Amino acid sequence: MSAKEMYAFFKDQFGLDERLSVALMGAHTLGGAKPENSGHTGDFVEHQAHKFNNKYYRIMFKKDHDWAQVISQGTNGQVTKWRWDGHHADSGDKVGMMLNTDFELLYDIKQNDEGESSCEVMPGKNQCERYRTFDTARQYSKVRTIILHPANSICLVN
Ligand code: HEM
Repeated sequence: MSAKEMYAFFKDQFGLDERLSVALMGAHTLGGAKPENSGHTGDFVEHQAHKFNNKYYRIMFKKDHDWAQVISQGTNGQVTKWRWDGHHADSGDKVGMMLNTDFELLYDIKQNDEGESSCEVMPGKNQCERYRTFDTARQYSKVRTIILHPANSICLVN
């Protein structure tokens, strides 16, 4: 699913604009994926599947994190698909797992039918182009609390 398709889905199904959609995706601070369910593996934010804060956004922006594409091996015969696993550049410790739709808060991910991206989310050669929600996601990575008001407005608390 491209970034454009994802934001169109949130708009059509829930009436959310892109700023609210980026905020709602922060739900992926919690929990993760299992091979027997989606076919993907790992917690979105390593070591804090049950704690809610803005680390989901933060780990996608950290310069000392390496994110690389990995093939997900499902246990229910799911079709081949790809995810991103992140590790500390120095220690090699895992920091999290993202789907293309997670990184599409930052980038326009060009992908084939199996979800394999033809560009990288790391700075350097062949980096994916920034999507127009990049700055919104970066803003959320810098605040402590994002409050979603019923009237479709957002309050950021430092
Ligand atoms: C483009 C939109 C989204 C996609 C493609 C997506 C995809 C996924 C996938 C594949 C999983 C792993 C499921 C598993 O293997 O058990 C997952 C987990 C999860 N998603 Fe999403 N998701 C999206 C949006 C959302 C939204 C809007 C919310 C809530 C507001 C949400 C909340 C969660 C939570 C809490 C989990 C963890 C579940 C667990 O640990 O058992 N997701 N999502």
